[in-house]
Amino acid sequence: MQIQNDLLLRAAKGEKVERTPVWLMRQAGRILPEYRAVRESVSGFIELAQTPELASEVTIQPVDLLGVDAAIIFSDILVIPEAMGLPYEMVEKRGPWFPETVSSESDLKKLKIADGANDLSYVIKAIEITKKELAGRVPLIGFAGAPWTIFAYMVEGSGSKTFSKARAMLYTEPKLSHQLLQMITDSTINYLKAQIVAGADLIQLFDSWAGILGPDQYEEYSLKYISQICDAINEVPKTVFAKGAFFAREAMSQLNCETIGLDWNMGIAESRKMIGDGKTLQGNLDPAALYGTPEQVAAATKKMMDQFKGGRHIANLGHGVYPDIDPEKVKVFIETVKNYK
Ligand code: CP3
Repeated sequence: MQIQNDLLLRAAKGEKVERTPVWLMRQAGRILPEYRAVRESVSGFIELAQTPELASEVTIQPVDLLGVDAAIIFSDILVIPEAMGLPYEMVEKRGPWFPETVSSESDLKKLKIADGANDLSYVIKAIEITKKELAGRVPLIGFAGAPWTIFAYMVEGSGSKTFSKARAMLYTEPKLSHQLLQMITDSTINYLKAQIVAGADLIQLFDSWAGILGPDQYEEYSLKYISQICDAINEVPKTVFAKGAFFAREAMSQLNCETIGLDWNMGIAESRKMIGDGKTLQGNLDPAALYGTPEQVAAATKKMMDQFKGGRHIANLGHGVYPDIDPEKVKVFIETVKNYK
């Protein structure tokens, strides 16, 4: 189906756009009372994510209510470990938790490479329904976690400030680490391909824990696998968002992807210099800027837009929107981008 508002796709490919497209990481859920109402009708996050009709409904909410230029499918990066044989739970107010983790070769033997279409059929179904419901209004973004970030959760078992168990494994069990990363990578490629067949128009990789590795380890244990994924997917544009990987910007300019996400610690002019003109940059307003008054939000957004200087750009925050942000401030951010000249 022809997409009516295809600003995001054209901006990703570096084509001419009338204005900069805008969407927010983690826009589906979290901030909208309409999301919470749907969420309360089920037992919890996982049931919501596994019910395609409801996942589709909350995916479309931000398009209708906020006016963003793209939808992102409602799911989580942790569906991949689950499909590989390591289920997760979502603990209220604390986040994800894995009853079992990976620490040895025998743990690894219990896992399989996920095939995407079958093992994650509920996400695939949600994408199909969402495409139908969107009827071409805006593109639909599919996503997955980057292998290193997924590895970090599978080894650590939960979120962590330091992810010291996951980082320890890179030193104590480098071979096992590479084996697990390769299994995650193969699963992720299968999963993303199935998302694209179902209708995803662009895909984004979230490397949320990129910033806890040093540059050499980042090359060896993360970029190497991101690179495999980028090379395997050529059907739609790809965005790589590696939170905290300021040290890897030059290396990332070599990835086979169209767009690089910037977090708010990454200077815009400096990032452009390191990455070059061959890629679109996405970001990067500090999510905390949305705690300001509407006037302050508008001013901060304009300042960000000025710094991108009309180059290849997709406007976004520098990380996911925080759950306690007033949706009205989100609208100010979006409207300011849309009206920017
Ligand atoms: O709007 C969207 O972006 C689509 C849906 C989406 C979710 N998670 C839904 C979700 C996306 C893209 C994610 C990605 C995700 N999940 C990341 C990468 C992005 C980032 O923030 O760095 C990570 C690290 C996770 C893991 C995860 N899932 C955590 C740490 C938590 C708990 C804290 C929180 O609320 O983010 C989740 C739960 C989760 N994933 C919720 C939602 C809407 C909240 C669950 C609820 O409704 O109770």
